[in-house]
Amino acid sequence: MNSIATDAQARDALKAGARVGLKSDKITITGGNPLKGRISVRGAKNLATKAMVAALLGETPSILRDVPDISDVQVVRGLLEVYGVKVSSPAPGELRFDTSNVEKAHFAEIDAHAGSSRIPILFCGPLLNRLGEARIPDLGGCRIGDRPIDFHLDALRAMGAIVDKSYEGIYITAPDGLHGANIHLPYPSVGATEQVLLSAVRAKGTTELTNAAIEPEIMDLIAILQKMGAIISVEPNRVILIEGVDRLEGYKHRALFDRNEVASWAAAALATHGDIFVEGAQQSELMTFLNVFRKVGGAFDVEEDGIRFYHPGGELKPVTIETDVHPGFMTDWQQPLIVALTQAPGISIVHETVYEDRFGFTEALNEMGANIVVHKQGLPDHPRRVARRDFEQAAVITGPTKLTGADVRVPDLRGGFSYLIAALTAEGQSTISNVGIISRGYEHFVDKLAVLGADFVFEG
Ligand code: EPZ
Repeated sequence: MNSIATDAQARDALKAGARVGLKSDKITITGGNPLKGRISVRGAKNLATKAMVAALLGETPSILRDVPDISDVQVVRGLLEVYGVKVSSPAPGELRFDTSNVEKAHFAEIDAHAGSSRIPILFCGPLLNRLGEARIPDLGGCRIGDRPIDFHLDALRAMGAIVDKSYEGIYITAPDGLHGANIHLPYPSVGATEQVLLSAVRAKGTTELTNAAIEPEIMDLIAILQKMGAIISVEPNRVILIEGVDRLEGYKHRALFDRNEVASWAAAALATHGDIFVEGAQQSELMTFLNVFRKVGGAFDVEEDGIRFYHPGGELKPVTIETDVHPGFMTDWQQPLIVALTQAPGISIVHETVYEDRFGFTEALNEMGANIVVHKQGLPDHPRRVARRDFEQAAVITGPTKLTGADVRVPDLRGGFSYLIAALTAEGQSTISNVGIISRGYEHFVDKLAVLGADFVFEG
């Protein structure tokens, strides 16, 4: 029995968009209940936060709808307010940004608000365009690799920025303003693509970006910039052309839904033999995930207002998947799915080709009874669509294995959600600590667990 709310109270809380501030950082889950019910997913963490930064570029106010109540959004809101942006919330899930008074901020204030986020690096372009300078503190973000920003800084330098690194962070200026450039990314980096988009839209001249990321969140950001007055064309073969313009206006936009959250709840339905309707999920941005979900033995029904994910009975099936850039299988989807793969008879392989250290979370799963072996060297090479960086890892999962409850500590955002799934699947009780990290990217996840019938105690 969960302690945070009865199902009706939780459902009312969800409807009212109540904010669940995670005061405690521990949740104790008793496994065995299939997750069943209906939840809704709002805007994507990896779009909404960038759309908020884009508002800085507008000379007039912007409105963003379907903003999730997650701590990464709070971090970006705090940073915008440090720079003088007036942020208000006219309705649940809606933010309004008034940028009529953008001003320089003290580094200590910026650093105090940067939090565990990587988004501050995306403030460079808008701040250079508005203030002629940007101070970026050391970045946070999930510890799933060393997360360098060389592609970002090289792109800014190509557009005329001067980058000074100091022990505090990075100080960037552009005395003559930013100008268009031909920029080639060594790898289709999502963040570096966003960096170029947010910088080139107000630069003098045209920028040609090659080997760009084209994730749906990138396309949604381009739609926002186009609404503001930008001229951006997405050419064949990952080429994006940006013609700099003199002025951008505010936007009104409803954020794209969060594909990563949908995939996480779908994996939870599979692992717990459950049946979850995820309101707001759309098929077109999830095609690759849905194919894998079906191959593993899951079933789904696409409706107009969302997608139903369920375990149809019978055995799950082992699969071999390789993470990739869009439209491949997203790296953010593998961690929750691996828990379901521990329940499939046979050998599954997950080849992680985007990050160099994204399998650390599997150690705790092995403590719970899983059989996952991580190969640091990855799998023998074979021709790929996108040139690979020189590191890869592979997790070999042998199932089915019975999971038993354990005390575990959340290592990163998606690994943390995979621990929720493992605890829900395991026999007995698990205590998961450091769950605050999960609220960085999963809106009201404790309320949603309550609505779906999970058995837990959370001293929230
Ligand atoms: C974004 O991270 C997402 N985060 C990540 O989601 C997601 O996994 C990733 O894109 C890939 O889709 C946000 O949008 C906030 P990258 P980002 O630049 O932009 C290397 C989650 O769970 N690289 O595409 O940081 C990098 O080290 C998070 O929601 C450089 O070498 O990812 C990585 O190996 C996790 N130099 C690869 O490129 C650079 O300058 C892809 O990184 C930049 C990146």
